[in-house]
Amino acid sequence: MMKETIHIFSSVEKLADFFAGRISESISGTAGDQFFYIALSGGSTPRAIYKTIAENYKDEIDWSKVMIFWGDERCVTPTSDESNYKMAYDSLFKNINIPESNIYRIEAEKDPALEAERYAEMVDLLLPHKINNPQFDMVVLGLGEDGHTASIFPDNIHLFNSEKLFEISQHPATKQKRITATGRLINNSKEVCFLVTGASKAERVSQILQKKAGWQDLPASLVKPTDGELIWMLDDLAGQMLIKEAGNFRG
Ligand code: 6PG
Repeated sequence: MMKETIHIFSSVEKLADFFAGRISESISGTAGDQFFYIALSGGSTPRAIYKTIAENYKDEIDWSKVMIFWGDERCVTPTSDESNYKMAYDSLFKNINIPESNIYRIEAEKDPALEAERYAEMVDLLLPHKINNPQFDMVVLGLGEDGHTASIFPDNIHLFNSEKLFEISQHPATKQKRITATGRLINNSKEVCFLVTGASKAERVSQILQKKAGWQDLPASLVKPTDGELIWMLDDLAGQMLIKEAGNFRG
């Protein structure tokens, strides 16, 4: 049974504090020899959130228990400014004490098909399983203005229902190749957190959460953790239409 909650925050800092608090809570709930498996999102939204976490939760979170993966990566080198790994390294990892061996980068600069397979096998091997699928404790997702999430876009929404754990995708405008997790992995997670900020996302957020015309055609709408929690963390700007149309969701 899926549980869905929506939180709207008056600032990105407050959103980041809430998000970090959830991570910290979940980690303190793991047994001594267990780890917290998280798949990070890319794009620009998480940068400010990861920075706030690095500043305020450097010592509050036992990073040695956190195993870092990604929900998607651009097929670029890890030193490229386009790289989701580089964004996370610059905004988070270099400012916290996390063992390098806890970070499992998608080596997307290699052959995409071979890397998608390698990464899927590694995730399958390293993560605990639920109903024969690897299960993350938390998958972090962003929302594109076109309703995409991870790197599954409206024009290749079929990838969400792939048999595979990771697929090769392509950005519809730039044609940049991507490697992306699929619904088989995302919807098996204990918790999926959408981190969405900025006025440019308000329309999409409202369309998805209020089930307005065409909402089912959006990849983000397919994110429904089967037996987990779906948590939308929005700032005021991204949630402004929800507040106007459906009342208050203050986080
Ligand atoms: C990526 C992300 C992608 C992102 C959305 C939102 O690799 O770009 O995984 O799904 O979360 O495109 O991006 P912004 O945060 O930059 O708006």
